[in-house]
Amino acid sequence: MIVTFTANPSLDRTVALPGPLARGEVQRAVSVSQESGGKGVNVSRALVASGLETIAVLPGAENDPVLAGLLHDGVPFAALPIEQPLRTNVALTEPGGVTTKINEPGPIMDADQQEALIGLLLERARGASWVVMAGSLPPGFPADFYATVTRRLRSGAGSGAGIGADGGAPLIAVDSSGGPLVAAVSGPSPDGTAQHGTSQNGVSGKPDLLKPNAEELAELAAAAGFATASTADELEADPEAAAAAAAAVVRSGVGAVLATLGSKGAVLVTADGAWLATHPPVAAVSTVGAGDSSLAGYLLAHGQGAAPADCLRQAVAHGAAAASLPGSTVPAVHQTTPDAVTITALRKD
Ligand SMILES: Nc1ncnc2c1ncn2[C@@H]1O[C@H](COP(=O)(O)OP(=O)(O)OP(=O)(O)O)[C@@H](O)[C@H]1O
Ligand SMILES: [Mg+2]
Repeated sequence: MIVTFTANPSLDRTVALPGPLARGEVQRAVSVSQESGGKGVNVSRALVASGLETIAVLPGAENDPVLAGLLHDGVPFAALPIEQPLRTNVALTEPGGVTTKINEPGPIMDADQQEALIGLLLERARGASWVVMAGSLPPGFPADFYATVTRRLRSGAGSGAGIGADGGAPLIAVDSSGGPLVAAVSGPSPDGTAQHGTSQNGVSGKPDLLKPNAEELAELAAAAGFATASTADELEADPEAAAAAAAAVVRSGVGAVLATLGSKGAVLVTADGAWLATHPPVAAVSTVGAGDSSLAGYLLAHGQGAAPADCLRQAVAHGAAAASLPGSTVPAVHQTTPDAVTITALRKD
């Protein structure tokens, strides 16, 4: 069982415009579609597409349209009831493909609700092989929320010792950006006060797997001073530089880094090695959610006992297939072409 956790899910509405977006004017939409989204939800959706057991843990009132959408799509979920509606994210698409996105911040949840959400996750994570925490955090959540939850999952706080598969802690994957990403992996601040991802009472808050894209890896490297700053474009163009930045993250105590590099494929760095995976060019139709599909592909292969390089292979096969499908449509494993992926071993440092 793979449990995903989405603290800030959304109803993703896509509004197709007949022409370019005209600021300040009234325009009529050609078509409107909507889908329940959020990064953890997308990972669950991709796992369901391949027949894997998963549950998406999230907040949401019983009658919230996000939950109705998940029910409709057959994505299993466990929701913490809240009074406020979840957010709606709007994408305005123009005929040429230009897209303008407006993302709402999300509902306000007080400390008690945040604690209840963690409680629901701890309960559902019992017996899980992986917990995937993904996406942004709603307003008011502390930036180190993921590190805190990681420690709680590992120490089994509130649920007795050991809550994962075989009574051990589940493996933990994090896919986020900005403050929550940095706090999930950064060490103590220079004055020693902030502990963030580092160990407290001997329990590390750092993930077993981190899934940044090039932009997030650059952000992380710059914030943590891990490597000489590279831009996202430089990391996409130079997989060895991406591997070096990812290796610094691994040396800081993260189990493995799966850094996706858009059309350039992805690199995986573990304590034992570094690999680059590339897929022959595909006609990219929509890369929305490609990274979430990559993570699902990695977890799918991992669950089958695949070696690290083959988990990376399936991640890139899933990503390429997702990019070739419209909208945020996620591929099933039979729609992917892992045999077309080329794996190259890289120097780690
Ligand atoms: N233009 C493209 N052509 C081919 N494959 C692509 C393209 N864009 C993305 N991919 C595939 O999808 C994977 C993930 O892409 P990317 O690095 O853009 O993720 P991301 O930015 O995390 O995406 P998101 O957060 O929107 O899900 C890549 O490793 C690659 O396999
Ligand atoms: Mg992403």
